[in-house]
Amino acid sequence: MSQRRILFIGASGYIGGSILDRFLQSADAAIKSASYTALVRSQDQASKLKEHNVSPILFQGLNDTDILRKYASEHDIVVNSANAFNTDAAKALILGLSDRKKQTGTDTIYLHTSGTSSIGDYPVPTETADRWVLSDANDDVYAHLTKLEGQRPYAQRTTDIAVVDTGIAANVKTFIVMSPTIYGKGTGLFNQQTIQIPGIIKRALRRGKTPFHSTGAGNWDHVHIEDLSELYELLLSRILAQEAVPSGKTGIYFSENGHYNWREAAEKVATVGRELGALSTSEVEGLGSVEWMTCVDAAATASAVQASELGFASWSRTTADLGRKMSWAPKHGDASWQAHVTPTFKAVWEKKL
Ligand SMILES: NC(=O)c1ccc[n+]([C@@H]2O[C@H](COP(=O)([O-])OP(=O)(O)OC[C@H]3O[C@@H](n4cnc5c(N)ncnc54)[C@H](OP(=O)(O)O)[C@@H]3O)[C@@H](O)[C@H]2O)c1
Repeated sequence: MSQRRILFIGASGYIGGSILDRFLQSADAAIKSASYTALVRSQDQASKLKEHNVSPILFQGLNDTDILRKYASEHDIVVNSANAFNTDAAKALILGLSDRKKQTGTDTIYLHTSGTSSIGDYPVPTETADRWVLSDANDDVYAHLTKLEGQRPYAQRTTDIAVVDTGIAANVKTFIVMSPTIYGKGTGLFNQQTIQIPGIIKRALRRGKTPFHSTGAGNWDHVHIEDLSELYELLLSRILAQEAVPSGKTGIYFSENGHYNWREAAEKVATVGRELGALSTSEVEGLGSVEWMTCVDAAATASAVQASELGFASWSRTTADLGRKMSWAPKHGDASWQAHVTPTFKAVWEKKL
C-alpha cells in the first residue's frame, strides 16, 4: 500500500501530542512510514514539529472551516484531537476527506477525540449509589447520545452525533474515541498536562481547601494517557490492515481501565496537598456550579456551567469492550490512578497556576 498521508489537528495538545508521539514511534510499518502534517496556531509549535519530521501548516484556528476542508482533502486520514466541542470544524474535516475519496477512489478515515461527559447524567446525582455502566460493544451508544441530545443539547455531544451523521452522508469512515478522565504525563511536544484532576488541584490551591463539584456523588472512569495512545495506535493499525473494525454508528470507542468517585478524588487531592505542605487542611467542601467556575476566574456562562457539571460532577460509567476485543490491554489501573495524584499536584503547584 502506498504511503498514507495523516493530518493532525490538536498536535500541540495533551491528547493529540501524545497520540502523534506514539504514531511516530509505532512498530506498525504502515503507521510509522506515513507522512505527517499538523495544523497549528503558532510559529514556535511549527518549528518544533518540523524538527520531528512533521510538516506544520499555520492556520487561524478551528473556525476557518474552508482551510480545514482544503487540507483534509489532501490527506487520507485525519486525527482531530482539538476542541471536541467544535461541530463545524469536525464536519469540515469529514467533508474534506469525502472530497479526497472522490478524487482518489480510496477509503478515507476520520479519527475523532471526544469525552464521556457526552453521556454524563443530568441532573448530577445527589447520592452515591450504583447506576448504569454503558458498553461500547453491547449497547447502542449512538442511540443513547441521540436520546440525551433530544433531552438537553450539549455541544460536545452535538459534535459526536454530527461526526457520525456527516460520515455516513459523505461516505467517510468515522471513529470516535470517547475517553473518560485521562491522567498521567503526556508524551507530546507541547502541553503534557490533562484537565480534570489539575482542575481540582488549581481550585484547592486558590481556596486553601479542596473542593468537589456539587454533591461529589457521581462516579467516572479513568484511563492513563499511555494506554489511551496505545488504543489509538491499535485502532489505526487494524483499520489500515483493512480488518473489519466498527465505524460510524457502531464506531464509538470507550477507553476506561478503572473508576472513581468525585468526592473521593477530592479527598485524595486534599490528603496529598496536606502531605506536600501546599494545603493546611485535608478537609474537602462541595461547591455549586457558579462558584466552581468563578473560583478560577472562568465565566459562568450557561454552556460553561453545563460542561462543568457534566465533566466534574456527573455519573458517567463505561466499559471499553470494543478495544479489549481488539486485544487492547491497558497496563495502568487503580494503583497508577492513586499514585499519579502526587506528581500531578507537584506539577500544578510548581507552575503556580
Ligand atoms: N484531557 C482529558 O481528560 C480529556 C478526556 C476526554 C476528552 N477530552 C477533550 O479532548 C479535547 C482535547 O483535550 P486535551 O486534554 O488534549 O486539551 P489540550 O491539551 O488543551 O489541547 C487542545 C488542542 O486543541 C487545539 N485547539 C483548541 N482550540 C483550538 C482552536 N480554536 N483552533 C485551533 N486549535 C485549537 C490546541 O491548540 P493550541 O496549542 O493552539 O491552543 C491544542 O492543540 C478537548 O476538547 C477535551 O475536552 C479531554
